[in-house]
Amino acid sequence: MQEVNVGLIGLGNVGMGTLSILTENADQIELKLGFPLRVKALCSPSIAGKRLPTLPAGVVRTTNWREVVEHPEVDIVAELVGGTTVAREIIESAISHKKSVVTANKELMALCGAEIWDRAISSGINLAMEASVAGGIPIHTVLREGISGDRVTTLYGILNGTSNYILTEIEKHGSSFDDVLKEAQRLGYAEADPSADVDGYDARSKLAILAALAFGEKITPSDIYTEGIRRILPIDFDYAHQLGHTIRMVCSARQTPEGLILSVRPALIPQSTILASVQGAYNAVWVRGKYGADTFYYGRGAGSAPTGVAVVSDLMRVAREIRAGSPERVSPFAHERLGEYKPIPVTLQHSAYYLRFRVEDRPGIIATLSRVLADQQISLEAVLQLPTDNWRDRPFVITVEPASEQAIREALAEMSTNNFLVEPPLAMPMEKSL
Ligand SMILES: NC(=O)c1ccc[n+]([C@@H]2O[C@H](COP(=O)([O-])OP(=O)(O)OC[C@H]3O[C@@H](n4cnc5c(N)ncnc54)[C@H](OP(=O)(O)O)[C@@H]3O)[C@@H](O)[C@H]2O)c1
Repeated sequence: MQEVNVGLIGLGNVGMGTLSILTENADQIELKLGFPLRVKALCSPSIAGKRLPTLPAGVVRTTNWREVVEHPEVDIVAELVGGTTVAREIIESAISHKKSVVTANKELMALCGAEIWDRAISSGINLAMEASVAGGIPIHTVLREGISGDRVTTLYGILNGTSNYILTEIEKHGSSFDDVLKEAQRLGYAEADPSADVDGYDARSKLAILAALAFGEKITPSDIYTEGIRRILPIDFDYAHQLGHTIRMVCSARQTPEGLILSVRPALIPQSTILASVQGAYNAVWVRGKYGADTFYYGRGAGSAPTGVAVVSDLMRVAREIRAGSPERVSPFAHERLGEYKPIPVTLQHSAYYLRFRVEDRPGIIATLSRVLADQQISLEAVLQLPTDNWRDRPFVITVEPASEQAIREALAEMSTNNFLVEPPLAMPMEKSL
């Protein structure tokens, strides 16, 4: 049967993983498809220095991505470069050359996925982006196909492997954030500039895409409240454990009667929940639907081979569509027209909270803080203090009954004016049950 041809642009982690699978697993792929999926062109600026697998004669190798996009025999262009500049040019150029596109680019799809998808549909080509969120977990397919008959009400995720690795290492070894980060950088789990991971921006892009798919709203990263994990101390895990909880950077999108509340932030979650068992660099997504209740997806969120599997599977899906002559006509962002779940500010969220203080000890501190909470109509639930010798930096924790985030923020602002604080208080939502 007639083959479908692929051009790969970008031969870094994901590009090389994709290429290896396409070549090593070519016979299985052909059996599953019923026709061959061939690599026709490859591009990266440093292609001359790459150790490429053995390829059939006639495969174009170039440093100029336009040669891939314009190659008359390339049916599908895989954009595996990343970022929002060149990648956008590549995708737009491919669409105008009527080439279908597979991308792993979360940043670009979070920023302007809806527009790119509309352009692809009006050009009659197919677009697939499974690898853009949670690498090896086929969560796009789940939301677009597997459970698309349900009405999603809540989505929780652990979507950044680096920050999950750091948190679980702090939890296991009691080491400081800085020490664990250095070790993660040494092992290659964290970038030299770790901010996209530890400050939550990478997870925010992923949540923007997943929430758009799950709820059918046009969601941009700026709709999502984002807070990183730099302030988490080993002692926070000690207190969390005393409360029967642990700490994870939780990406959440929840339907409330007022609208959709979206956040990426460290939160206390019960140790008994399945999300708490997600360790190291693994990712997970938990979806709750009105009809089908809970489903949970777990796997590697990144890495050359797991992400390569997602890209190759997208290439196979698009190849099938091309062969069947029916490219995807409905954008995954299209049911934004339902308009049921408008994003609303996180300050409207109601939750129990964990408030951690570090103080220079003196009499009357708890009374002062309790008064501030009472002024905001916030009910105190418990006060926890583990023994420490250092009266100049004594940590303790107050947990409070469900309150609005707005009230918590106002209370924290007032508390922060007290000179007994060593640093501003840390507040994290505390999920009683998930
Ligand atoms: N890494 C993961 O585990 C993972 C997981 C899920 C999604 N993703 C996404 O996958 C994409 C690629 O990530 P990656 O980790 O593979 O990145 P990477 O290792 O930095 O690879 C990027 C590749 O793009 C090439 N490139 C840069 N500028 C180019 C240009 N103008 N024309 C053609 N090629 C160009 C680079 O060439 P040189 O090799 O010559 O420098 C490199 O081969 C990103 O969107 C990322 O967010 C990555």
